[in-house]
Amino acid sequence: MGERLDLESFRQVMHRYFDTARAVIGRHGGTVEKFIGDAVMAVFGVPVLHEDDALRAVRAAVGLREEIETLNRALEADFGATVSVRTGVNTGQVVTGTEERLATGDAVNLAARLEQAAAPGEIVIGPQTWALVREAVIAEPLESLQLKGKSQPVIAYRLLQVRTDVDPRTRPGLAPLVGRASQLRMLGEVFANVFAERSCSLFTVLGMAGVGKSRLAAEFLRGVDARVVTGTCLSYGQGITYWPVVSMVKQLLDPGHGCPGAAQLMACDAKVTAAINVLLGQEVTVTSPAEIAWAVRKLFESSADLAPLVVVVDDLHWGEPALFDLVEHVADYSRGAPILILCLARPELLDARPGWGGGKLNATTLLLEPLGPAETAALIDELVPTDSGFDPRQRSPRCWLRGWISSRPPSAPSWNAGRWRASRSTKARCRSWRQRNGMFPGGSAHWCTRTWCALTSPSCWARTRSDSGTC
Ligand SMILES: Nc1ncnc2c1ncn2[C@@H]1O[C@H](COP(=O)(O)OP(=O)(O)O)[C@@H](O)[C@H]1O
Ligand SMILES: [Mg+2]
Repeated sequence: MGERLDLESFRQVMHRYFDTARAVIGRHGGTVEKFIGDAVMAVFGVPVLHEDDALRAVRAAVGLREEIETLNRALEADFGATVSVRTGVNTGQVVTGTEERLATGDAVNLAARLEQAAAPGEIVIGPQTWALVREAVIAEPLESLQLKGKSQPVIAYRLLQVRTDVDPRTRPGLAPLVGRASQLRMLGEVFANVFAERSCSLFTVLGMAGVGKSRLAAEFLRGVDARVVTGTCLSYGQGITYWPVVSMVKQLLDPGHGCPGAAQLMACDAKVTAAINVLLGQEVTVTSPAEIAWAVRKLFESSADLAPLVVVVDDLHWGEPALFDLVEHVADYSRGAPILILCLARPELLDARPGWGGGKLNATTLLLEPLGPAETAALIDELVPTDSGFDPRQRSPRCWLRGWISSRPPSAPSWNAGRWRASRSTKARCRSWRQRNGMFPGGSAHWCTRTWCALTSPSCWARTRSDSGTC
């Protein structure tokens, strides 16, 4: 392009491209570290680490790809030129905090190599990023890559799309569900009541990160005969108040798998259609949050006309007041339709909305406690498949994990056990076991912590990595 355009036009094209990249990356919580020629290097998780930095980086890459399409239409009209972007996303430890605050390390080099391996318009993600985001994206593995500076081939993935919502019924768990029988029974009873009474119920599961809220919901949903729509609140961003609701409405109005009742309502009720179109960004007219809540309730009611509807709002603690109002409006005013609203949230929800669910006869709130010692031991047996091949003179991984978790302070949730560092000797023992079992190649200062969390929850794994960033 540089050869075809005069210098001033080229400068303007690059300027607009960099502006677009900076805006998209900033919107997803990343920082542009530097522009190198026509390349952009951005970091997520530096200086402030978030549990979903890997997903933010991947969303930013997809967002940039989409924005480039719009930018290209303008560039074509103004300069007769377009830009195409190749992206590599990688996660790992970096050194930062230097005067120039530049992140450096092997993770950055690998990100650059992945970018070079991508075709124009492609996003290639590295193995550790894949491990952290795999439940939230659709990607296909590439032939293992022989990259410059890497002695071993690298397994990378071509990112096809970020899922707006994952049906919790299809979300795989690493191990069969352990315990939680009474919680499943409670959920089952509330659902049976919703079905029998054709009424609406609000069920909130509160529990700290990684305790098993989403897993419990997935297990419950596998057993119910109902239409399920899901929406997940995001931890960041502008204009995302209704993000989970938009996603649920899209599921109900999907031409292939949507609900005929919802489509029918949209066809015959102009007031609902107008408010829903504003919600979906398809119309720009003045609509109040109350009108949107009313229209969404009408849509849910018509969708639940023939079969019960379960509305799952995940990570509600990240929601905004207008979303809380909408959920409460549906719970308070829905009549004559079997709707179960299942909200999953960390206890911080009660800071944001202290009276959540309080004073409602149709609301249940369940505090999900960490698994008990016997259940934790059973889970370890499921997750650590075998002790065979382990040096009999040393404690086996199962035994070590059981001992380690039981030595945590009583208030400490077993799922967050990764927050504590292992001692040097246990680190050394686990390192050799991990290497023999091919888990997460490559050493790191806190690898033992990571191994445990990686066995249980990729998102938990990300959270404990206080010394690393995603490039
Ligand atoms: N009772 C359980 N039995 C088996 N695996 C579990 C159980 N609870 C949670 N897990 C696993 O632990 C990880 C974290 O659970 P998750 O439901 O994502 O936590 P939360 O939604 O509370 O943050 C997931 O991989 C999940 O499959
Ligand atoms: Mg969850």
